[in-house]
Amino acid sequence: SLDMDQITSELQKLGVSQIPTFSGVHLYPQHNAVDVYRAYIIEQIHQITGAEPAIINNAVAWTQDLKHGDLVLPVPALRLKGKKPDELAQEIAEKFECPLIEKPAADKTFVRFFFKPAPLASLALKYVLQQNTQYGFNPNLGLEDPAKPDSRRKKLIVEYSSPNIAKEFHTGHLRSTIIGGFMIKLYGAAGWDTTSMNYLGDWGKQYGMLSQGFEKYGSDEELKKDPIKHLNEVYVKINQDNAAEQKPLKPLTEKKEELEKLKTPPKPKKPAKGKEAEPTPEHKWTDEQEKELQDVTAEIEKVKEELVQKPSIDEKARQFFKRMVDGDKEALQYWQSFRDLSIDAYKKMYARLNIAFDDYSGESTVKVEDMDKAAELLEKRGISEDSKGAVIVDLAKHGAPKLGKTLVKKRDGTSLYLTRDIAANYERFEHYHFDKMIYVIASQQDVHVAQFFKILELMGPPYSEAVARCEHITFGMVKDPKGQTMSTRKGTVVSLADSLDSSRDFMHDVMRKNAEKYEQVQEPEATADTLAISAIMVQDYSGKMINNYSFDMERMTSFEGDTGPYLQYSHARVCSMERKAGVPRDQLLTADFSLITAKEGVELVRSLAQWPDVFLNTYKTREPVTVLTYLFKMTHLLSSCYDAKDAGNRNAKTMSVMYADSAEKKAALMALYDCARQVLANGMRLLGLTPVERM
Ligand code: ARG
Repeated sequence: SLDMDQITSELQKLGVSQIPTFSGVHLYPQHNAVDVYRAYIIEQIHQITGAEPAIINNAVAWTQDLKHGDLVLPVPALRLKGKKPDELAQEIAEKFECPLIEKPAADKTFVRFFFKPAPLASLALKYVLQQNTQYGFNPNLGLEDPAKPDSRRKKLIVEYSSPNIAKEFHTGHLRSTIIGGFMIKLYGAAGWDTTSMNYLGDWGKQYGMLSQGFEKYGSDEELKKDPIKHLNEVYVKINQDNAAEQKPLKPLTEKKEELEKLKTPPKPKKPAKGKEAEPTPEHKWTDEQEKELQDVTAEIEKVKEELVQKPSIDEKARQFFKRMVDGDKEALQYWQSFRDLSIDAYKKMYARLNIAFDDYSGESTVKVEDMDKAAELLEKRGISEDSKGAVIVDLAKHGAPKLGKTLVKKRDGTSLYLTRDIAANYERFEHYHFDKMIYVIASQQDVHVAQFFKILELMGPPYSEAVARCEHITFGMVKDPKGQTMSTRKGTVVSLADSLDSSRDFMHDVMRKNAEKYEQVQEPEATADTLAISAIMVQDYSGKMINNYSFDMERMTSFEGDTGPYLQYSHARVCSMERKAGVPRDQLLTADFSLITAKEGVELVRSLAQWPDVFLNTYKTREPVTVLTYLFKMTHLLSSCYDAKDAGNRNAKTMSVMYADSAEKKAALMALYDCARQVLANGMRLLGLTPVERM
């Protein structure tokens, strides 16, 4: 962590004394150089205008673009009566004085602050060089009291990914995995005590399907090789068989329905207001039709009887699941082995994505007694009601008309997805005493989540207390490049592992094109995989979470444009420069940053100083795109440094480490590039990417 004494002495050199503090204002000068500037700005503005420090702190804002200043004060936000904002802006600009900041300029009702380049470089780059992998993050935010460093760290559960065993791991699960992984890293970097939870879809009649499917189509060898894919294949096949079995019934029941419709006489139409009644059309129902209806009905009975005598796949699946529910050892063993193998395979895939779960729970782990307890309470409180033998909650009667009616218990007494979510929420609260729990679930389930949240709220304490700490983070769909929904069944995606593999192979081919570089890469296959994963993740993060996007292999794997490979390239390029330059680390730490004078270099420093604020803002928006947008801006500034021209000599690259005209200049430039690399790496890791050193 940061040596504050060094910062203080640095400030003394720059002609400012002790960093001012204000009660009720949380600043973190030990993490964020910009907070040092904030402290002086607050002090000055308070002296000039008399506004409250907390109000000033809220008013001082970031700019969208560095050309509008490093910080800006919209004067009306001070909420001062009397003076006109533009006049006050003028007055502030005139009276403001700080050795770290240029004389501010009033711009209508804004006051724009530009940090002086040399002091900013020597201050801000110290933070980066000293804090390294921690630079920008703020572990105080997750404390019960952010002002008390020894107070308790708050507990966060993030439930995400949550695939259904045997069913496909679709792009919705992939997005949940990527976004959930990001939430864990974000809150972790903010000092929360986090737990990653996977809530598997691992319970239900599908195991009855799967066991039959496996007996008929399964292969132990295939299962070992790729359990997720094989179980899904088997599951799809047995479902097709099941559908075929049900087939003869379908046309018959359809025919019957059609005839019954013809049989019922049409109701006389009510006349429209002020109009005469239209004559009711004549109703015909012939003897032949009656005979046909009777025949169809008889045929249906016959087919049904046959299906009962030879128990259908569907019926056997139901029975198998019943055995599981009743604790039948053999049935459960089968289920357990499928579950274990699937989890092993998931773990491998998650590892490729830089993700590890602390807790593999699932629908199967929800206790019956907890569901019973919840059901009892629902009934006692008059929240649920009987509906033809089943139990429902009519949320319209409880102030949520949009959420409609929902089933909480089937007629045969078995539980549902929703019931399990209700009980699971309570179990997690009991077990973890979380301060916050985030569910990362696709927008297709918005209604489901709103329903079970609402029911928990109606149930009162402790359920309502738990759900008050819960939040649903929702996200849009992944489409194919033509904008169509992707699914295994349609063949657009083979399996997640396969699509990760094909992205990897694609990247590998790209790398091979540069034979000279390729030879230097120690584990080309692994590097290609890292690049491919970066491509996928960055594509996912490129818009707001709620937006849909198209999975576009060509675009996301490109090295041009705002892609994952571009970020990786930017990182590897600095690494390569550092290897060639070979400046020892202690020279970086003591470098003289006043030697960085080119405008490109100054811009890069200003951008690097912003990173702690960007982190803070991301903690508010919780949108990965906040980080990404910053990283692209920063890397563009970085790359413009490479080509920065010397004002006196248009052929000289004034920021080139290789051609620096003195050892001091070389050290200063190398330190700046190293800081940029560090910030890039920190941002990438926050997003779940692994920065590569060669590619
Ligand atoms: N397994 C579910 C599915 O794939 C997602 C589970 C989401 N989490 C939850 N608590 N309901 O559709």
